[in-house]
Amino acid sequence: MLVAVLGAVSVTLLTTPLYQATTRLFVSTTSGSSLAETYQGNRFSQERVASYAELIMGQTLAQRTIDKLGLGINAIELQERVTATTKPDTVLIDVAVLDESPIQARDIANSLSDEFVALVRELETPEDGSSPDSRVVVEQRASIPENPVIPKPLRNIGIGLVLGILLGVGLAVTRDLLDNTVKTRDQLETITSTGLVGSIPLDKERRKQASISFDSETSGIAEAFRKLRTNLQFLAVDNPPRVILVTSSMPSEGKSTTAINIALALAETDKSVVLIDGDLRRPSLHRYMDLVGTVGFSTVLSGAVSLEDALQKTRFPGLTVLTSGAIPPNPSELLGSQSARKLLSELRAKFDYVIVDSTPLLAITDAAILAAGADGVLIMARYGHTKREHLSHAVGSLHSVGAPLLGAVFTMTPMRGGGSYSYNYGYYGGYTANSGPQPSGDTEASVAKGDGASATAAGLPASGPGGRRRRKAE
Ligand SMILES: Nc1ncnc2c1ncn2[C@@H]1O[C@H](COP(=O)(O)OP(=O)(O)OP(=O)(O)O)[C@@H](O)[C@H]1O
Ligand SMILES: [Mg+2]
Repeated sequence: MLVAVLGAVSVTLLTTPLYQATTRLFVSTTSGSSLAETYQGNRFSQERVASYAELIMGQTLAQRTIDKLGLGINAIELQERVTATTKPDTVLIDVAVLDESPIQARDIANSLSDEFVALVRELETPEDGSSPDSRVVVEQRASIPENPVIPKPLRNIGIGLVLGILLGVGLAVTRDLLDNTVKTRDQLETITSTGLVGSIPLDKERRKQASISFDSETSGIAEAFRKLRTNLQFLAVDNPPRVILVTSSMPSEGKSTTAINIALALAETDKSVVLIDGDLRRPSLHRYMDLVGTVGFSTVLSGAVSLEDALQKTRFPGLTVLTSGAIPPNPSELLGSQSARKLLSELRAKFDYVIVDSTPLLAITDAAILAAGADGVLIMARYGHTKREHLSHAVGSLHSVGAPLLGAVFTMTPMRGGGSYSYNYGYYGGYTANSGPQPSGDTEASVAKGDGASATAAGLPASGPGGRRRRKAE
């Protein structure tokens, strides 16, 4: 809209102003003595008027006017600036002349009218020299116009505004129609055939520092991870998943960042957690967490180092990390080996939770191989970025290896404009609104401690706007 309006303004400013001067001509016939003759004369004038209008806009008159005023233009150019309009059933002709100079517009209009009076006299005088049947009088002479008629700023800006709005709406609709990315909870749940267990908002800080320090952090993203953690604890209550694989369809969808913070959120509840970099091709956990990358998963599998030596303690209590190790030539083979399975079960015995970061599902089979050995898989979808068909292929490849899908996680959802909250609460917003505010001041604290029972209210999507209200109140 802005572009169109600016366009209209610049067109208006760049247009050379044109002034319009007008005269009015009256066509009369020699009146007869009787009523019938007068009537006939009147009819005759009216019929004449149409031909006169043509003559006024014709070349002969234009040339005569140019000759008289000594104008430096040709007849055709002048013709284009002259318009003669007639009103039906009258004997009046309005002559309008456009020119860049208001004075010249007036002069041309007046001379043209005078010349026309003379022209009509010539044309209408019979050969025998008797008085002409019809004559033209200049009823109203032109004066100097004060304001230009062209450009019309208001009209131009109006057109710009309307065009801009139409164009903008058109573009928005087209973009929306062509958008095949996942953007709503509905789409995500339908494509993955599983529930949404978390929505991680976009947080620019995460580009600099992937891990969140949960003890000091009270931001939206820390809350989102706490909620995700609580939801995880509710999944499969009879057989709680302890080896959890984090994956997604394509690269850069927030797998590693999310895996780190899920691990941290679980460690916050006094559980022992080990985070494994299962991405043996483009590992990133050691970079994100400032750890040694050369000794890790692959080196333990190859037998070069013992598991104890490869596990790295972090500055976060309760969190141990097994980085990728040196990049092997055959990651898929290594990950599918018996040793890998044995390693995972060893870790499972040692720790309460094993979180495995992995590669994108569509590019390579590594993640699917790891998924087959995990208790559950969390699939990430980056808001407005992950394509629907990519996501459904990724889910397909998980199904084909029989991997248990725990749930889907939206990553990098927009914070403002109701963004991330609407995914969290979309379904149950109305329900909670009716059920009234939740009478809980200590819920937040219980969640932080990982108290499953009382976390119900705050953790599940069903908590609705109540959760938000509480946070504000705090
Ligand atoms: N919640 C977030 N808010 C803002 N930026 C994020 C968030 N999550 C991840 N990012 C950024 O997005 C980029 C990709 O994230 P990340 O490395 O976690 O993705 P990935 O899926 O593990 O990528 P890869 O497939 O390459 O392993 C990084 O620059 C990271 O800092
Ligand atoms: Mg990664």
